[in-house]
This record gives sequence, structure tokens and C-alpha cells, in this order.
Amino acid sequence: MNLKAFHQAILKWYDAHGRKNLPWRTFDTPLCDERLQGINAAYGVYISEIMLQQTQVNRVLEHFYFPFLKKFPNLTSLSNADESELLKAWQGLGYYSRARNLKLCASECVAKFDGVLPSEVSELRKLKGIGTYTAGAIACFGYKKAVSFIDGNIKRVFSRLFALSSPTQRELEAKASKLLYKQNAFDYNQALIDLGALVCTPKGAKCGICPLYEFCAGKFAPQKYPQNKKVEYEKLNLSLLVACFKGKIAIQKSTQKLYKGLYNLPQIDDELAKKCKIGAKKACKFIGEFKHAYTKYRLNVRVYECVFDETAQNACGWTLTREQNGTNLAFFKECLKACEFVSLHALRGLPLSNLAVKALKKAFKDEI
Ligand code: ADE
Repeated sequence: MNLKAFHQAILKWYDAHGRKNLPWRTFDTPLCDERLQGINAAYGVYISEIMLQQTQVNRVLEHFYFPFLKKFPNLTSLSNADESELLKAWQGLGYYSRARNLKLCASECVAKFDGVLPSEVSELRKLKGIGTYTAGAIACFGYKKAVSFIDGNIKRVFSRLFALSSPTQRELEAKASKLLYKQNAFDYNQALIDLGALVCTPKGAKCGICPLYEFCAGKFAPQKYPQNKKVEYEKLNLSLLVACFKGKIAIQKSTQKLYKGLYNLPQIDDELAKKCKIGAKKACKFIGEFKHAYTKYRLNVRVYECVFDETAQNACGWTLTREQNGTNLAFFKECLKACEFVSLHALRGLPLSNLAVKALKKAFKDEI
């Protein structure tokens, strides 16, 4: 491959079509958004890269990037963050271990590096939550180091460029290192990311408009490269209960690994929810269902609402009379035993799982 021509082609394309004004690409340039004044470039890049790991650019831009940096403008503020407040700022991004790792990484940087991120890939790599790709991206985009790395977009571009169906990480890293444009690694790597996001896309490559057409070995069958492993999804049904009592809603803080620190709605057995009664009345009303994707799970979630009145107070006060034991009220006691009742206003201030937000919207529409 003629490296010079290859670099020229991709950089010319980036200049004309690249997303050069994405805020995390504009630090220390005249394009820099005023909301980023005073934000350290490596820190701003770090936050963007962690957010972008599982979330699309537009969502990060529209809802998360600027508010998060306003709340936590540097590693010191992040290291001092209250966990609940941090999870609240992350609410909607999902994969909450990322947020918890941010705090751990920030504390480590405060303790060891005077509150700034190190610039060496080898040091970055040792920090909590920073993998090979993110370390490279921070070094390159935050510190302008001439380093190469592979993310999902770059993997696809290189796999097609060299017609590799199942390349190893090592193979790809060797290619990336050989092709790196050291004089301007920043634009070159951003260009590769953009090419993967805009032209050489997962759904199909737009080879006709690709600046790398003449260099590409995979252009006649791009869908063959790389051959992705088929993901096995697990289908699950789940029913959640919006339980209200005196204007308050039952919610429980999760201790499960993936949801730790987040608030969820109580689960309810679907059959019981259908037939459960308080006195002579049906206790639960079905208020809707929705689909939810989470890691390898594909959930179908049914939502029930139960408004307890004074007669059911025992179910909420958790002191059942002898006659109520073994009845539907006992069932509610079991279902809600780990819950606290909070007002809608208080609920809005708590970090809620996406699942809970979607279910609460069925009951309270846009009030949530
Ligand atoms: N995804 C991961 N890193 C990115 C970046 N720097 N720009 C756009 N999308 C990205």
C-alpha cells in the first residue's frame, strides 16, 4: 500500500466530511464550546470515551456530556462525588459500573498523579475502567500522542480494508501501528472512527463514496468482513409493580451487581398480579408493557399498578393481623418487604434504573 496516498486520502476526506466539531475534539481550538471552558482536555476526552462506549454520539451529546461536566468538572470533584449523585448524572446511560469506575479512577489519579490523568498509555491502562482502546484514545485525543488503537469502528474499517474475516486483536493492532499517521495522529484516528461510523458502517459499506476505495481489499464483499460472532440473546418476561400508598411509591435500592446503588421497582409474579385481591376488589391493574434490552437479555416487561387504601394499610405498615396471614396482603408484604415509599418529587432525585423509568412512565407519563 502506498502509505502517503492512503494518508492523504483519509485526511482529505476528514477535512471535508469529518465531525470535527464534536465537542471532545475541540479542546484547545477556536471551535471549543464555551461550556468546556476550564475543562482539562484529557479529562473531557476521558469522560466522552467512557460515555461513548455503549451509547450513541447523539444521545451523549444531547443529554449527558455537558451536564455531567458541569456537575463534575474535574477528577477531584469526581473523586469526591456522592455515589447517588454520580449515578443520577449517569441515569439513562446504563452500564453503571462505568460510573462507579469513574470515581475509582478519579480517586487513584488524585492520590497518585496530582488530580490529572497520566499521559502514558501504560499508566492509563492500569487505571480502573480504562482498557487498551480508551488508554490509547486518551493519550492521542487528550495529549496529542502519536499512538494507534482499535475500537469497534476501526476494527471494521481495517477488517474490510485487508479483507480479514476474523482478525485477532493483535493482528489489528499491528496493522493500526503500521498505518498510523504520526504527524497528525489526532485527525487520522478521528478520521478512522468517522469513516467507520459514517461510511464503512455495520449495516453496509457505502463503498461508492469511500475515500479508501482504491486501497480496499474487501470492497466487493464488505459484509463478509469481519465475521461477527452471533450473539445469543436470552428472552425473559418480567412483571413490575408500581405500588402507591398515600401518594408515595414503593421503590427499592438494588444490591445486585449490575444495578448496585440504583433504585428499582418491586417485581411481582404475573399470575398472582392477575388474580390478587384486597378484600373483594382486584388489587392490581395492568397498565401496560414494554420491551427492554439489557446486556444479553431481551425483556418483555409487564407493569401493574396497585393503589393501597387505608384498609390495606397493614400491608404497608407490615403488621398483618392473624387473619391476614397467608392472604393476598401477606403476598404484598413479601413483595414489598425491601421497599421504601417515597414521593414522586423525591423519586425524581434518585438514581433510577432505565427499567424503573420506563415502568414509571406507564403510570405517571411525563411527570417522571
Ligand atoms: N466513539 C468513540 N470515540 C469517539 C470519538 N472520539 N468520536 C466519535 N465517536 C467516538
